[in-house]
Formats: sequence, C-alpha cells, structure tokens
Amino acid sequence: MVLNEQAIGVFDSGVGGLSVLSHIHARLPDERLLYLADSAFMPYGCKSALVVKDRCLDIAAFFAEQQCKALVVACNTATAVAIHHLRARYNFPIVGMEPAVKPAVAHSRNGVVGILATHGTLGSGKFQRLKQRFAADAQLIVQACPGLVELIERGDLDSAVMGSMLQSFLQPLIQQRIDTLVLGCTHYPFVAPLIREIVGEHVSIVDSGDAIACELQRQLQQRQLLATGRALTDHASIKTDAVAFWCSGEARETAALMSRLWGGLISPNKLSF
Ligand code: DGL
Repeated sequence: MVLNEQAIGVFDSGVGGLSVLSHIHARLPDERLLYLADSAFMPYGCKSALVVKDRCLDIAAFFAEQQCKALVVACNTATAVAIHHLRARYNFPIVGMEPAVKPAVAHSRNGVVGILATHGTLGSGKFQRLKQRFAADAQLIVQACPGLVELIERGDLDSAVMGSMLQSFLQPLIQQRIDTLVLGCTHYPFVAPLIREIVGEHVSIVDSGDAIACELQRQLQQRQLLATGRALTDHASIKTDAVAFWCSGEARETAALMSRLWGGLISPNKLSF
C-alpha cells in the first residue's frame, strides 16, 4: 500500500482520545485511523513521567509495526512527558495535545482562566513553559482532578457522584470568577454537559480537539501524506470502516463504553503489552 493510504495511529490512556478522534474523523474522512485505548495502564495522570514515557514508546512501536504514516498522542498527559522522546525516535509526523491556554487567554474578557487537567500535565515542564509563554498577563487558576478519569472510564458521566466530584473541582474556580474554562484532558469533554450546568452559561468552555485535527491536516498536507480515500471500501458505512479500534484492557468492558461514546458498535481488538 502506498504511504498516503497507510493509517494514522491515535492513542490515549483509555476512551478519552475518542473526543479527539471524532474531530479527526470529521475533518479527514478519507483517512484510515487506528485507535488504541490503553485501558490496562489507565490512568496516566498520577503515574511518574518516566513510567508514562516508557509506555508511550511501547505504544509508538506498535503503531510503527502497523506501518502508520502519522501518530496522534490524543492525551495531554502523555504529550507533556513523552512527545519529545517519540519525535526523537520516529520520523513520521507526531501531533500532540496541550491545554488550550493560548486561545483561552485570548478569548477571556476578565483575564481569569481556569484549567482542569491531570497532575501529570500540570506538573510538567511543558505546561510551565506554556503558562509563561501565553498567560503572563492572565490569572490562570489550575485544578487537578484526581479520580475523574477513573469515573469516566467506568461510564459514569452524569451520576450524583460525578456531580459532586465536579462541584468540588469547579467551586474554587467559580469563586475566583473565571470567565473561561480549559478542559486540559481529553476525557473531560465527555462530562462537558455537567460542567456546563455547574459553571453556568456565562463561562466559555474550551478544548483542543478540533485544533489538533487541524494541525494534523496541516502536517499531512505539508508532507503530501493526505489519503485519497481509495483504501476505504464502502463510503456508506465509513465511520466503522475507516477506524479500527484496539484496547489493552478488558475488551468486553471497553467495547461497551467505546460504543456508547463513539456512537456506533465497536468490538476492539485486544492488544497485550
Ligand atoms: N486523557 C488523558 C489526558 O488528556 C489522561 C487521562 C489519564 O490520566 O489517564 O491527559
């Protein structure tokens, strides 16, 4: 198969990256996508940078074996600690996530911006540099969200437990009068409706999903790597044909949640690391 028709690898610690995958699929419907939910190793956010980096190198090796033409790290935590190691090892384009600090600060009217993310992301040097570069004149209020990813991975998107967990993370930000809120973890868009209820209509909620899909498109264009769509057989059922799903954890459990969040029946292949 010619390089343009090879797949793009996309991964996250679990189902969170599906919130990015849907933007990629919408923007680049002719591309074949391989999605890996590393659910056996989830969550990344409370593990050491070294451990997450090694895991990401193993995952990138899997995508390289599949002869992927590009890789999307659909995880803020993994990007923060591993992307430079991945880029040092592989020549294909590697696109990563970062909390949308720059657009949020540009958009904010009162300059008070809240950021929800994992400990791993907030504690990284990459995030410190992002803050210094784009938020020098803003008041950035960061909030780690321990336990939130695990709850989302259990499929709990709107229970009372989820509601009170989100309240506890958001109340300090509301008290400091944020007018813009960054979802700095790819899992969090799946609880955006509940976040919206808590913060109210006057707070803008920003995430990076579409910006990353745009950046991927730009890099593929620049390297003349865009697919022609010839590798996809049936355009009528493109959503399942175009994407192959893998998971490292219990496939049956992950399948139910992935299907719910993706909006189509998914039977992920099991990958053993
Ligand atoms: N979805 C990932 C992110 O964007 C992290 C989730 C985790 O802690 O595993 O940071």
